[in-house]
Amino acid sequence: MSKAPGPIKKVLVIQYSQTGQLTALTEQIITPLRADPRIAVHLEALVPLRPFPFPWPFFRFLDAFPESAHMVPPALAPLSLKGDEDFDLVILPYQVWFLAPSQPVTAFLKHPIAQGVLRGKPVVTVIACRNMWLLAQEKLKSMLAAAGARLIDNVVLTDPGPTLATFITTPRWMLSGKKAGFWGMPAAGLTDAQIRSSRRFGLALREGLLNDREKGDEPLLAGLGAVQVNPRLYFSERAGTRGFFVWGMLVRAAGPPGSWQRMPLLSLYAAFLTLMIFTLVPVSLALQALLRPFMAQWLSRIKTQFERPSGASSERSHIYGE
Ligand SMILES: Cc1cc2nc3c(=O)[nH]c(=O)nc-3n(C[C@H](O)[C@H](O)[C@H](O)COP(=O)(O)O)c2cc1C
Repeated sequence: MSKAPGPIKKVLVIQYSQTGQLTALTEQIITPLRADPRIAVHLEALVPLRPFPFPWPFFRFLDAFPESAHMVPPALAPLSLKGDEDFDLVILPYQVWFLAPSQPVTAFLKHPIAQGVLRGKPVVTVIACRNMWLLAQEKLKSMLAAAGARLIDNVVLTDPGPTLATFITTPRWMLSGKKAGFWGMPAAGLTDAQIRSSRRFGLALREGLLNDREKGDEPLLAGLGAVQVNPRLYFSERAGTRGFFVWGMLVRAAGPPGSWQRMPLLSLYAAFLTLMIFTLVPVSLALQALLRPFMAQWLSRIKTQFERPSGASSERSHIYGE
């Protein structure tokens, strides 16, 4: 009797989530892959040796910004990977911390074993965050390039609430664990419908893999509404990134993560940051609204640039039941 053929495609999936949101999203995407006997999924859960708490105590939250912004990797528990595995595709879900990839994901990308596994491999990034991810993706792309990996798709899901409301609802969720809406504000985080409908990406990845399309240069997730860029947040991200970088340098000079010497600077920065969020962001948005006729072309260029490679159009979504 002939032996049943083994899986023909191997997929590596990275996993880290504090609230479970990114895990729920990843599950939707990988369920169709796991259900197919021709595809083997290897799940790599990232475990920081010094865990990041959820909900976050206020100072611990703030204390995470210098290393996040400077992409200083925290130590991870040993990976289950050896470094010589040969995957056909890597799915890299990540959340944004302080306009940069979250620290555990940065630690993975800078890990020598991960770098061995990623070399030459096609990567699909999946972002779930509040709504400011443009420059985090640029940073992540530079880490992928350093590891010799190739980005073929990017899926982005952002909190649907208005930007200024999410500046209140997300920190409240992170600091208290409370996600529900209050005082007329929307609930924090993604909706269940957003998470459920992400199954279409898994179905399309399965189809792409079974047709060897991950070997080519075309995205597998085009036409599925994978990413919608709000280019008006680009200016605030640029200003925020610069601020995090400079203040991050000062705080890091004061002491290592968790040290009391950082507290005065962190307190000062917290006040400064709050002021900036509720002045600079609305002013920048209002100015852009006024200058829209002059900036339209430039904003649309930014939108197109950051929506690559998967794109915003959704003409193929109906194929996957959306
Ligand atoms: C320390 C920290 C900083 C964050 N900074 C940002 C940010 O700069 N931009 C953004 O869109 N979301 C930001 N978020 C929200 C996260 O990207 C994410 O939506 C949330 O943490 C839930 O992710 P989880 O799957 O790990 O639970 C931040 C969250 C944390 C904990």
